[in-house]
Amino acid sequence: MLKSVDRMGNLVDNVMDFARGRLGGGITLQLSNEPLQPALEQVVGELRSVWTEREIVTHFALERTLSVDHKRIAQLFSNLLGNALTHGSADRPVLVIAATSDTGLELSVSNGGKPIPDSALEKLFQPFSRHHGQERTEGLGLGLYIASRIAEAHGGRIDVVSTPQETRFTLRIPMALLPE
Ligand SMILES: Nc1ncnc2c1ncn2[C@@H]1O[C@H](COP(=O)(O)OP(=O)(O)OP(=O)(O)O)[C@@H](O)[C@H]1O
Ligand SMILES: [Mg+2]
Repeated sequence: MLKSVDRMGNLVDNVMDFARGRLGGGITLQLSNEPLQPALEQVVGELRSVWTEREIVTHFALERTLSVDHKRIAQLFSNLLGNALTHGSADRPVLVIAATSDTGLELSVSNGGKPIPDSALEKLFQPFSRHHGQERTEGLGLGLYIASRIAEAHGGRIDVVSTPQETRFTLRIPMALLPE
C-alpha cells in the first residue's frame, strides 16, 4: 500500500512536470543557500519508511554552501533513489553519496543487480523510456527524464555507469561555491 501511494505521488509530480515542459513552461528554480542535507535526509527517511526491508547507506559531506533549488534536488534524488530500490537487486544495499567538492555538488546513488543493457542506456533519459519487456511494470519511464531536466536547469547533468557490479547514477552540478 505505502509503496503504491508513494509511487503514485511521484508519478503525478513527474507527469505534471512533463506536461508543463511540453507546454513551454520549463523548470524554474527557487534557489536557496540553506543546507541541502536535511532535504536529502528527508527523502531517505520517506523511502526508508516505505522500503523497510531494504538497506540504504548514506555518506554526506556537504560542508560548503551552495545555491540550489532544494525541492527540485529532492525530487531528482527521490527519482534516483526510488529507481535504485525499484529496479535494483533486493539483496544488495543502496549507496548514497553526496558531497561538495572544489567544483560543485556531486550526488550519486548506486545499486546492485543486472546491468542496464547498452541499447537501453542511450535512451534512458528520454521520456517514456522503459526498456523492452518492461512495458507492463508500474512506472511510466518519466523519472529519469524529469531528473535530467532538473539537473540541466541547475547547469548540471546526470551520468550513468552500469556494470555487473553496480549501477550508479551521478548528478554533477558545477558551481561557484559560496563563501561561508
Ligand atoms: N537504478 C537503476 N537500476 C537499474 N535499472 C534502472 C535504474 N534506474 C532506471 N533504470 C531503468 O531505466 C528505466 C527508466 O527509468 P525511469 O525512472 O525514467 O522510469 P521508471 O522508473 O520505469 O518509471 P517512473 O520513474 O516514471 O515511475 C527503468 O524502467 C529501468 O529499466
Ligand atoms: Mg523511475
